[in-house]
Amino acid sequence: MKKITKAIIPAAGLGTRVLPASKSVPKEMLNIVDKPAIQYIVEEAVAAGITDILIITNRGKGVIEDHFDHSFELEANLKGNESKKKIYEDVLYPANLANIYYIRQKETKGLAHAIACAEKFIGDEPFAILYGDDVIISPEGKPVIGQLMDAYEKYGAGCVGVKEVPREDVPKYCTLDVTPLEENIMSVHNIIEKPTPEEILSCYSILGRVVMPPEIFKYIKETAPDKKSGEVYFTDCMLSLAHDGKLNAVDFDGIRYDMGNKLGIMKANVEVALDHTEIGEDFKAYIKDLASKL
Ligand code: UTP
Repeated sequence: MKKITKAIIPAAGLGTRVLPASKSVPKEMLNIVDKPAIQYIVEEAVAAGITDILIITNRGKGVIEDHFDHSFELEANLKGNESKKKIYEDVLYPANLANIYYIRQKETKGLAHAIACAEKFIGDEPFAILYGDDVIISPEGKPVIGQLMDAYEKYGAGCVGVKEVPREDVPKYCTLDVTPLEENIMSVHNIIEKPTPEEILSCYSILGRVVMPPEIFKYIKETAPDKKSGEVYFTDCMLSLAHDGKLNAVDFDGIRYDMGNKLGIMKANVEVALDHTEIGEDFKAYIKDLASKL
């Protein structure tokens, strides 16, 4: 099987849950300590062997393109200054990470519609999808999207990244009916988006990482839009793939931060800061002192 080298990052959502922060700064560009969320995501893809990334954007998301481009004024200012060598390298780094392309989703018509914008770019190859507001950090092991790519290559079936979430949180996500294939890999039979407590099939929910066969574009076209919203739900497209016996789930090894909600943003910043080489020790002392006063 040909190696998976292409990925898409849908980043065209409105980010209404993190307004007003996301009014003029895309939520994918919100900071985690010293880098925007989307840089962590691109770094994860590159570490897994992805070379070509299509970022789905829309009006008002031009700063994402600026971030992964050269900034000649900054670079000229920092270059050759020995005391600012590390800062110069950090500024240059995002521009050289991968081949990054952009396409605009001209109407915000949901995730399936955003993914459909990538059909020409993907062609006839399996590909990775990394949701632009889900940062997943795997400090010890393999990048999470790489864990899914391995499972895709092994079983030749689409693959969703899942974690068990607390039962009371399942109705905010989705629930999966699965049977085990091996230690952390399962075959998916059913998915219910935002289930009622009575509908919960398991506490496994899909969190931000997916590897799909190119046939998914056909499934997107064939899936009926939701009667109420008029939107084609990506979960429904993946469900059809599951019904055809072509979808597995990987219980991945990594910590996921939801940059699409306020608590997720705070957790990401605190936990990444505690581990940070430059400020970690000072921040730990600060948090200990703060906690002693709570
Ligand atoms: P979300 O549903 O979490 O993003 O989509 P949202 O629509 O921005 O959220 P709220 O509810 O308004 O806060 C998951 C990912 O899919 C992208 C988003 O940018 C996010 O990274 N997305 C969503 C698109 O690219 N296009 C869309 O039409 C919707």
